[in-house]
Amino acid sequence: MLKDKNVILGVTGGIAAYKSVEIASRLRKAGASVHVIMTHSAQNFVTPLTFREITGNPVTTTMWGEVTNYNVEHIALANLADLVIVAPATANFIAKCAMGMADDMLTTTLLATKAPIFFAPAMNTNMYDNPLTQKNINTLIENGWNFIPPESGHLACGADGLGRMPEPVDIVDFVRFTMAFAADMLGIKVLVTAAGTYEPIDPVRYIGNRSSGKMGYAIAEAAKKRGAEVILVSGPSALTAPEGVNFIGVETAAEMRDAVMNHCSEADLIIKAAAVADYHVRNVSDHKIKKNDEELTLVLEKNPDILKELGAKKRIGQILVGFAAETQNLLEYAKAKLEKKNLDMIVANDVSRKDAGFNTDTNLVKLLYRNGTVEELPLMSKQKLADELLNRVLKLKY
Ligand code: PMT
Repeated sequence: MLKDKNVILGVTGGIAAYKSVEIASRLRKAGASVHVIMTHSAQNFVTPLTFREITGNPVTTTMWGEVTNYNVEHIALANLADLVIVAPATANFIAKCAMGMADDMLTTTLLATKAPIFFAPAMNTNMYDNPLTQKNINTLIENGWNFIPPESGHLACGADGLGRMPEPVDIVDFVRFTMAFAADMLGIKVLVTAAGTYEPIDPVRYIGNRSSGKMGYAIAEAAKKRGAEVILVSGPSALTAPEGVNFIGVETAAEMRDAVMNHCSEADLIIKAAAVADYHVRNVSDHKIKKNDEELTLVLEKNPDILKELGAKKRIGQILVGFAAETQNLLEYAKAKLEKKNLDMIVANDVSRKDAGFNTDTNLVKLLYRNGTVEELPLMSKQKLADELLNRVLKLKY
C-alpha cells in the first residue's frame, strides 16, 4: 500500500533522528517516494545529505532557500503528500503543532496537508509523562492525527522508562496497518441518519430536540474516511456535512422517512443515530398562532417509526444498527428496541449524563448484540466512538 505513494518524512531534533534514516530506507524499499523535511535542530543529529542519498530526493530544510523544487509554493509538499510521518517528534515540536504554529517548513506542511499524519514521539520519560505534553498529544489526536506509542527502555539521557522511539520496522508496520484499516470499508454503501427532526406547529414554531448531529456526522465522516460510499440523511444541524458524503437535508420525521426509504435498498449498512420526533402536530397552523387564550392545546399524532420499518424490510446481508437514547432502564429499553425493530446491534446511549448524549463532544454507550452480548465502552470522543462502532459492525458480517 506504500507503493507509488508520496510520503513526507519529517525529522525533528532528537537523538532518535538517526533511526529515521532507516525509516526513509524502508519506505523507499516499499515503493514510496520519500520527501524528507528536517527542522533546524534535526540537522544537528543527521545531515540532509544522508537523507538525500537514501531517498534520491532533495531534502527540505528551510522555507526561505532558493526555490528549485516543488513548484515554488511553500505548501507544495503538503499538497503532494499521501501520508506524513514525523519521526522522531520531540516534545517541543508536538507543543508547537498543538498550538497550530507554522513557523518552519515542517509545521507549515503539517498544518496545510489533508493527508493522514503519524507522529512517533521520542523524548525523556518525564517530558513524555508531563501533563502538558500529554495534553498536547491529546489535542492532536482529537484533530485526527495518529500517534505511534513510544516504547519503554533505556533512553539516551540515561534514564529508563517510556519515551524511546519504536524501531523503524515497527513504525513502518504501524503506518501500513493503520492505512490498510483506513480503507477497510471500500465498496460498502452506508446510510447514516443524524440530528433531530423539527415538527412544525405553525410557520415560525416547531417541536424539536437537543440533538446536534455530532454523533451521526462523526459516523458518516469515519465511514467515508474508511472508503465507504456514504449517504447522510440529516435533520437541521449547525454542522457542515463531511467532505465527500452524499448529503440529504430534511426537516420533519416524515421527510426523513421518505429520504431513508428512497435509499435504504442500496445500503449495505444503515446506522440510525438521528433523534426522530415520535409525534407531529396534527393540525399545523397556516399562520402564526396568536396568544389569545390562557391555554393552548396541540394534538399530536404518532410519526412513522423509520427504524422499525427498516427492520421489517431488511434484506439478507444488510446490517441495521439503531441507537437508543435513554435516561433510565437503559439496557432493558435498548434490548426491547433491538428485538422489536429487528436490529443487528443497538447503541444504548445513557443521555442522563452531562458528558454523554445530546450535544456533547463525548459519548458513553453500551452495545447490545442479537446474541445477547452486551459490551460496555468507556467514555470517549464521538469521533473515536464512530470508529469503534464501525470496527464492530465490520466484524458482524463483512
Ligand atoms: O446528535 P448529538 O447531539 O451528537 O446526539 C447524539 C444522540 C444522543 C442523538 C445519539 O447518540 C442517539 O442516541 N440517537 C438516538 C436518539 C433517539 O431518538 O433514540 P430513541 O430511543 O428515541 O430511538 C430509537 C431508535 O429509533 C433510534 O435509532 C432512532 O433513530 C429511531 N427512530 C426513533 C423514532 C422514530 N419515529 N423513528 C426512528 O427511526
